[in-house]
Amino acid sequence: MNRRRTTALQLCPFSSYLETALTARFELIRWFEMTGIERQTWLNQRAETVRAIVTGGHIGCGRDLMAALPSLGIVAVNGVGADKVDLDFARIRGVRVTTTPGIPTEDVADLAVGLIIGLLREIPHADDFVRAGRWVEGDRPLARKVTGRRFGIVGLGSIGSAIAARLAAFGPVAYTGPRRKSVHFAVHAELLELAKASDVLVLACPANEATRNLIGPEVLDALGSEGYLVNVARGAVLDETALIEALEGGRIAGAALDVFADEPHVSERLRVHPRVLLTPHIASATVESRRQMADLVLGNLDAFLNGRTLATPVA
Ligand code: 8YV
Repeated sequence: MNRRRTTALQLCPFSSYLETALTARFELIRWFEMTGIERQTWLNQRAETVRAIVTGGHIGCGRDLMAALPSLGIVAVNGVGADKVDLDFARIRGVRVTTTPGIPTEDVADLAVGLIIGLLREIPHADDFVRAGRWVEGDRPLARKVTGRRFGIVGLGSIGSAIAARLAAFGPVAYTGPRRKSVHFAVHAELLELAKASDVLVLACPANEATRNLIGPEVLDALGSEGYLVNVARGAVLDETALIEALEGGRIAGAALDVFADEPHVSERLRVHPRVLLTPHIASATVESRRQMADLVLGNLDAFLNGRTLATPVA
């Protein structure tokens, strides 16, 4: 088969580096720019030509699209999370799935620390204050101290461990997770106990059936009115309505979120809340990590096209 004519669907925008390299390898269809009707028309004429899908961790690839593409051979995810790819269906269909594990770990951990400091020290509000010329009218109210807080990590995988290593410089760190790790951090078998014992609860677990809406009203109440929640995991792990109600009722002190239930749509109630710090799923969004991730995506696709062993398959 002529490699240049292999067809791939691109489900979301990528860096120009990755898009250029994909365009050199594939007839690349910019699926994310097409309307529902355009997609259906295209599928009616071309569905059987698609061999590859390239997508982001935040988008994944659902069962319906895979089912509509009889020649699909690979879904290459530009991200660590495969939670939005129907892996069981991919296995049944014999579709390979790859991710980019390990690469964004340090960036996600760096952002988690940045969010904690930004939230407690109110850095975005302080920045607004200076920009708006309000400093001449007087000083800003005092913020909250970071050093000395008790940090709780939900999920001590590679990202949770990188966060814990950084936070240990600020205060005591404890964690909960499905497996006890041989680390010097305190462990709580129960999430509720960890929340009670934490001033800042950081979510770093994968999204799956066991963690869906893991953080609900009970956990938030255990965290308490002086407690802060930080989510760099997945929106699905957190009951967003429960969080909004806890924030509005003053039952927790604040929250910093990089991930949301319905990205890129973010509830108005979160967007207007003063004790919330919001970022648009940027934890892995550095030039350095995205370049490395792109190279791994391309390596997996090249291996697939040439019948070689995939570097980082999850299905
Ligand atoms: C991705 C993510 O990098 O790694 C993941 O699983 O969710 C993101 O950080 C993003 O989807 C970019 O494609």
